[in-house]
Amino acid sequence: MCGIVGMIGNENVSEVLLKGLERLEYRGYDSAGVYVANQNERHLVKAQGPIKQLAEKMTSETTGTLGIGHTRWATHGIPSEENAHPHVSQHGKVVLVHNGVIENYRSLKEDYLAGYQLVGETDTEVVANVIEQRMEAENLSVKEAFKQTLRLLQGSYAFALIDTNDVDTLYVAKNKSPLLIGCGSDFHLVGSDALAMIHQTNQFIELFDGDFVTLTTNSMVLEDAAGNVIDRAPYTAEIDNTAIDKGTYPFYMLKEIEEQPLVLRRLQQKYFDFHGNVLLDDTLLQEISASERIYIVACGTSYHAGLASKAFFETLTKVPVEVHLASEFGYYTPILAKKPFFIYLSQSGETADSRQVLVKTNQLGASSLAITNVPGSTLAREAKYALSLEAGPEIAVASTKAYTAQIALLSILAYAIQLEKEDSQLNLLQELTLVEEAMTQVLTQKEHIHQLAKDFFRDTNSAFFIGRGNDYAVSLEAALKLKEISYIQAEGFAAGELKHGTIALIEDGTPVIGLITSEVTHLHTRGNLEEVKSRGAKTLVISETTFAQASDQIILPKAHPLLMSLVSVVPTQLLAYYATLERGYDVDKPRNLAKSVTVE
Ligand code: F6R
Repeated sequence: MCGIVGMIGNENVSEVLLKGLERLEYRGYDSAGVYVANQNERHLVKAQGPIKQLAEKMTSETTGTLGIGHTRWATHGIPSEENAHPHVSQHGKVVLVHNGVIENYRSLKEDYLAGYQLVGETDTEVVANVIEQRMEAENLSVKEAFKQTLRLLQGSYAFALIDTNDVDTLYVAKNKSPLLIGCGSDFHLVGSDALAMIHQTNQFIELFDGDFVTLTTNSMVLEDAAGNVIDRAPYTAEIDNTAIDKGTYPFYMLKEIEEQPLVLRRLQQKYFDFHGNVLLDDTLLQEISASERIYIVACGTSYHAGLASKAFFETLTKVPVEVHLASEFGYYTPILAKKPFFIYLSQSGETADSRQVLVKTNQLGASSLAITNVPGSTLAREAKYALSLEAGPEIAVASTKAYTAQIALLSILAYAIQLEKEDSQLNLLQELTLVEEAMTQVLTQKEHIHQLAKDFFRDTNSAFFIGRGNDYAVSLEAALKLKEISYIQAEGFAAGELKHGTIALIEDGTPVIGLITSEVTHLHTRGNLEEVKSRGAKTLVISETTFAQASDQIILPKAHPLLMSLVSVVPTQLLAYYATLERGYDVDKPRNLAKSVTVE
């Protein structure tokens, strides 16, 4: 995790760095820092806590034409100013920011830094000092010492490095952690993602593993992993700068929840033509359709989106689907089908757990599709096929619109595969339009859901979400959303499983939220709700109108049964949002988390 940004140009870079760090804050927010320099001055400012603390410490004096900045999600060492980046080497020769994890930093310290007094506990500080040690021991230039040090490293990195004796150059290196160069007429930028730089330019150059870049105001020398100087053309990023603003919303999460019908509409526009034909690559559809088994690999909310899509996908494609957690799959790989097809679901397209599986399946020669919200992200580049979620930037750490976009896009994909094989009884375009309307209708119940959140969650320490089938899949996501932002211990449970142990946890007043959207199991889940009620639970029922009872608190409009998760998840997102507001926490930046998890 962590986000880095750097700039070399003719103007004062401080404001650009600060703005970039604000945009990267979703990647980590436990501490931040900048180093800026010009011919006469050097300034290092660090602060524990969010970027606004750093901004408060920066003054009109903090100016420079060269600078690097960092926002941190702690991996090695507690959040503190000592551990915050940028790290200056002991004799002040180099300054470094880093996103990634250097796995062999302890042995590097032992081998190269005897007698060095390090001020913090980070792997990055070790690297900064090894570079300096190499310069001194072997009489190397900063560039040579940096390159030599890179060869010693095991792990992942996106580095930006400043030579404190040369304010006309910025050095950059990448391996496994994401990094882009931003190009302007009289400046160069470097950043963990395009969002951090889009306020300055929409021209970006992708960096690949092993790339080393030397930047000046007007020049860029890019060396690839083999050391060859290469030309790589910039691409134009189509990011709407206004899509990154909160507008009048108090938090990004609410904005993103409310954008969901719009995202569904965008997906329909992108993946269907005017006649309702699906616009997807034929070879992709044929490959999936000819595969023996589909493996959906993902983490967190994206994993839950995979679970919520399995039934629909199997029903339409008739290909068995397994959904796996990336962090497990890479190391405990099941026996694979002879003709497997892998689908990687990831909002960011940068999640290290998912990427390590993709690297392995690529080595096996298996075909794959990455479904991400960031075209050009690592997963999108490295999978054989890539599809975009069209959700627009998702800034709140708790994922909402990416989840529904993933389910919707998987449904379009499944539908297209079905059409490859046979005629379909389904008019998916129409069904998705109904879902869009149903979502919009649920959003009109916002104030009512706010009251329920206040009543059920303001003072509780635990909660259960229960459901069967797809309602169970949504229960898992609902529980994750509630726990990650409101800090209530919440669990998603298969409704029928409660009585096999977990029901022991039900006490007087324990909130149990039941999801009921399925014809097959609605009576069973009702029965399970009665069981917990008779043991003191306070129940909240979210039901599809066909199966609703007068006492149910949230009634959902009808949509296609296998797409109901797109609708039923919305009130649970709102419940989590309002519960967090009521409990007085920062909805967009929950503690201990970062949006893009680029470490395994
Ligand atoms: C939870 C959340 C995470 C992510 C997970 C995977 O709200 O956002 O659980 O879903 O870290 O991230 P991506 O989808 O970027 O691979």
